[in-house]
Amino acid sequence: MPETGPAGAGLEVRGLVAGYIPDLPILKDVSVTVAPRSVTVIIGPNGAGKSTLIKAIAGLVPVSGGSVTLAGRAITGIAPDKMAGEGIAYVPQTDNIFRTLTIRQNLDLALRKAGGEARARLDELFNRFPPLAAKQKEKAGALSGGQRQFLAVAMALAVKPSLILMDEPSAGLSPKAAEEVLALARGLTAQGTTILLVEQNVKQALRIADHCYILADGRNQIDGSAAALIADPVVGEIYLGGKRLRAS
Ligand SMILES: Nc1ncnc2c1ncn2[C@@H]1O[C@H](COP(=O)(O)OP(=O)(O)OP(=O)(O)O)[C@@H](O)[C@H]1O
Ligand SMILES: [Mg+2]
Repeated sequence: MPETGPAGAGLEVRGLVAGYIPDLPILKDVSVTVAPRSVTVIIGPNGAGKSTLIKAIAGLVPVSGGSVTLAGRAITGIAPDKMAGEGIAYVPQTDNIFRTLTIRQNLDLALRKAGGEARARLDELFNRFPPLAAKQKEKAGALSGGQRQFLAVAMALAVKPSLILMDEPSAGLSPKAAEEVLALARGLTAQGTTILLVEQNVKQALRIADHCYILADGRNQIDGSAAALIADPVVGEIYLGGKRLRAS
């Protein structure tokens, strides 16, 4: 299992401070390690800074302290247009596809920098996601929620990333579709991809993840192996059907 290189890159986030407005950090001190070819899930209450963490890693939110390293290369505060070149793909929480375009047009957009390889990569993606091939002339907005997330992941894969950042890929999906999308994320690690994802479907996410971090108020709270956190009574009470979930 390679520790460095384009496939299966490890991610190190150290003491990250980041926010949207100068001197008003949302992330106050966050450290996260994602092993190569693993799935790490970030959970935590609304407003904890989960999306901000993903965006800060991707260079979409200004970083004022700490560091981000991918496969040993410093990428702290990377320019967003350098993201793909560094092997990073970001699947946003919302609006991650163009609904008024067809599936094919969405994929062509994602492949626009693939040059002469675009056709072969499109074929690969269609082989991998047969429902997208079958519906390629349909508007992306007509897809089911689960298929839309598959399209968003297919678009992310267009740049052959070593790290995929996914923000709540199962949000709003049926339990079955959520399971399929999370299983897809898990399956990508077998091809050498490293996955960092944010999830609210904590129980389902912990089943497919290797490691889990809990954030609150822009700081690390608890972290551990997914198996250990599933078994942890405090985590169970707060995140796995305990008070917080019953209250919502
Ligand atoms: N574009 C923005 N400009 C200013 N503040 C923002 C912006 N986006 C988010 N915030 C603030 O940053 C804080 C953390 O938001 P973030 O979206 O990272 O939380 P989250 O953990 O992803 O929550 P959720 O579970 O609701 O998705 C919140 O207080 C939010 O209001
Ligand atoms: Mg969020």
